[in-house]
Amino acid sequence: MSDQARTAAGDERREEPLKEVDLLVVGIGELATPEGRLPRAGGAMGQLSTRRDVAVACDGGRFVAIGDEAQIAARFRGRERIDAGGGLAIPGLVDAHTHPVFLGTREGEFEQRVGGLSYVEIAAAGGGIRSSLEGVRASTEQLLVEVLMPRLDRFLKLGTTTIEAKTGYGLTVADELKGLDVIAAANQVHAVELVPTCLGGHDVPPEFKGRPGDWIEVVCAELWPAAAAKASFADVFTESHVFGLDASRRLMESAREQGLGIRMHVDQLTSLGGAELAAELGASSADHLEHVSEHGIAALAERGVQPVLCPLVPLYLGEAQEAPARRMIEAGCAPALSTDFNPGSCYCMSLFEVMSWAALRYGMSAAEALTGTTLNAACSLGLGGELGSVEVGKRADLVLTDLPNHSHLTYELGRNPVQRVIKSGAVVQ
Ligand code: NIG
Ligand code: FE
Repeated sequence: MSDQARTAAGDERREEPLKEVDLLVVGIGELATPEGRLPRAGGAMGQLSTRRDVAVACDGGRFVAIGDEAQIAARFRGRERIDAGGGLAIPGLVDAHTHPVFLGTREGEFEQRVGGLSYVEIAAAGGGIRSSLEGVRASTEQLLVEVLMPRLDRFLKLGTTTIEAKTGYGLTVADELKGLDVIAAANQVHAVELVPTCLGGHDVPPEFKGRPGDWIEVVCAELWPAAAAKASFADVFTESHVFGLDASRRLMESAREQGLGIRMHVDQLTSLGGAELAAELGASSADHLEHVSEHGIAALAERGVQPVLCPLVPLYLGEAQEAPARRMIEAGCAPALSTDFNPGSCYCMSLFEVMSWAALRYGMSAAEALTGTTLNAACSLGLGGELGSVEVGKRADLVLTDLPNHSHLTYELGRNPVQRVIKSGAVVQ
């Protein structure tokens, strides 16, 4: 209703006219969010702001007011208004590590692992990352966009409003750039926001078998310079059976020279010293870290390099070793939590599942798990000033659930509690 119409309706007694905003969300039983624009490290990771009976006003894609429902209702009128039904509201979830650009699934390898083979044994026999190359190389950009879209729909249904999206299943210059174009095309049309990473260091392509140095030179001389215009980050799989420390250093230093940020898969399967390298390079994130050493943890904490942990992956791979998340928090790190969604080592898109497993396997509190899937994840992507918390001025990404309080985020397994999803102030789910 416009101010004129309200006057005509005889509402002249109101001193301040109601301010019209794009969206008003009322009926939030509990609003739980970390606060700030910087990663929350150590003990601060478990400190959330929790408020009861809250309403939120969004305008121009951002949060403009958050507060007591009666007060917000007295100040704002929403062109659109939704009722959260008394449930828990949290920031839009941010998945800081995914590999969503691929064609076919690899359930046969899952069966092989359940039958006793390891991830490395399957890779050595021609499975693993290499088995996904064929599909990506043979596909057009359009086909890859078509298969990506329903995956993004599922992320959104699960409350994930932003994902870091890696390439890495092309592994030719042209096919890696095609993967980045797929991510850009999806970003144009889908509500889920994608932050592109070029994973040209995912593996040594089969054509370069036995001469990984030649692939490294192609990546440094051709791929990174071309990818720099299309990606925010470069990434490498630092592992003795893929790229060792010297090769990884060469790849990442060269990426940085091209203006790309650095993310690294490190110490996932063996304790190679990848965390120390990520710290030395000042990477934006050091991911996985199941086999990180004490020295590596100290180096990450000292350089402020954020761990991105993937608690579903060892579970999925049948590996016993967990990332020592508690030690990292005690040392003053600010970990993010991610799915690592990919066809090989984690076919799961649910950050709710990740939060539960982070509680069960790492001993994280629900508050720590929420910070890990929101603010800390956004900060690892350089987006902490924009995303990751429900605060005035940030982009209005909000998830409404039917959970009664934030402890249920980790307590309840196997059900999607998401009722509505708001991305940049628009109701998208
Ligand atoms: O993050 N570590 C390397 N990359 C993926 C696995 C990819 C695959 O198996 O296809 C990961 O676990
Ligand atoms: Fe990964």
